Amino acid sequence: MDSARYRANDGAHAAAGRSGTPAGPAYHRVPRPVPLYGAEFAADPRAVYARLRRYGQVAPVEIAPGVGAHLVVGYRAALDLLHDTETWSKDPRAWQATVPPDCPVLPLLGWRPNPMYNDGEAHRRYRRVVTDTLGMIGPHALRARTRSAADALIRRFAAAGTADLVADYARDLPLMLFNQLFGVPEEDHDRLVAPLAALLEASGPRAAGRAGDAVTRYVGELVNRKVREPGDDLTSWFLAHPARLTTEEVVHHVALALGAGIEPVTNLISNALSRMLGDDRYYSTLAGGALTAWDAVHDVLREEPPIANLGAHFPRRAVEFHGVRITPGELVLISYGAANTTPDGLPPGPRSDGGAHLAWSAGPHACPARGPALLIATTAIEQLTGQLCDLALAVPRDRLAWRPGPFHTALAHLPVRFTPVRDTPASASAPRGGLRPAPPHRL
Ligand code: HEM
Repeated sequence: MDSARYRANDGAHAAAGRSGTPAGPAYHRVPRPVPLYGAEFAADPRAVYARLRRYGQVAPVEIAPGVGAHLVVGYRAALDLLHDTETWSKDPRAWQATVPPDCPVLPLLGWRPNPMYNDGEAHRRYRRVVTDTLGMIGPHALRARTRSAADALIRRFAAAGTADLVADYARDLPLMLFNQLFGVPEEDHDRLVAPLAALLEASGPRAAGRAGDAVTRYVGELVNRKVREPGDDLTSWFLAHPARLTTEEVVHHVALALGAGIEPVTNLISNALSRMLGDDRYYSTLAGGALTAWDAVHDVLREEPPIANLGAHFPRRAVEFHGVRITPGELVLISYGAANTTPDGLPPGPRSDGGAHLAWSAGPHACPARGPALLIATTAIEQLTGQLCDLALAVPRDRLAWRPGPFHTALAHLPVRFTPVRDTPASASAPRGGLRPAPPHRL
């Protein structure tokens, strides 16, 4: 990042640069990148985004001690970058060669043979495997499985009258579901929870490295099992896809889908529940009022997106991007969190259209799982609030703790109380049959 140069005569940046940045000549070295790791960012990302915006559309940040990046914080600049595949590549290998092998963000940002880190034809081939197979899951089957997983979890704590909705519900629900979808045996679920969470926290070289290895090792075993005994699950469908992925490529696709799928869905569910329970505008929702789970989910996507900063890109050649000189091999990230809350030219705050947002990213690498993710999150929230109608936060929302990490907006805990319920319904919606939609004649 030393070689990065920001335009000093950018008015916004001059204000931010008071801490030792001389005004003009045209470009100067970045004085002090703003850390996105640690407690300060986790506690109040908005305050950090406000500081970053003073640099203009792109700001200098550190995503781990000593690991710099340019962060795109403007909505327009984010869209410019995400749609410009001629200038920007997703292949991190040139950047990767510049960071130490134990760099704590490498397990998340290092190159792999899957859609997230590849361009052009390789990207299209990989992405098709994901979109084709996700498209084979019937929404009714997915909803039924979500309800069933939700009921099973609610039964575990309903009689207690208290729960931590992160640990007891939002974290386990997508895990149960995705493990089913990918054919992971139930007794192995715990082997995935901690390493998947550690990847996004990027908390230290050893922890992140171990987490990456644990996920790859586990998924490797799973894929080998499915090679021998294919089933009606996404892992087997990846293996059978006409793109003819190698076994190693399938391992990286399954690991990506589990990593990209489970944690953000957890965050979407818990962030939305915390809004519904902690904000008067939603209070009436639980008693049958106006704002629905769908509204809460969309407000979270705009204001506390589960993936707050990611979209790693690298310039194919030296560029000047919104006043910043960026050279090949430098890491550029998109702040979905910052960009969402300042759609350029639009007034801040809620709007009747639900508000433009980039929580799913945009362009060719936008999330391919929007539909399933929304269906899972809204169903999970409806199922919970339908059964425990007087859920209330056990601590005020502004005292809830958020997990550290540059990449996500993730609650650490969501303590709630409610009237104990002894006889929650055994899932009337327990799924029957496979994942695919039933053929029309069976309806
Ligand atoms: C609330 C839930 C989710 C959110 C907010 C979300 C958001 C995103 C975002 C922002 C990206 C762009 C990645 C980047 O910035 O580099 C992305 C990519 C991706 N997501 Fe999701 N996602 C969610 C759920 C899922 C699920 C459930 C799956 C899979 C089953 C999934 C699979 C993927 C894949 C494979 C990519 C890479 C696409 C590509 O590079 O072409 N996501 N997602």
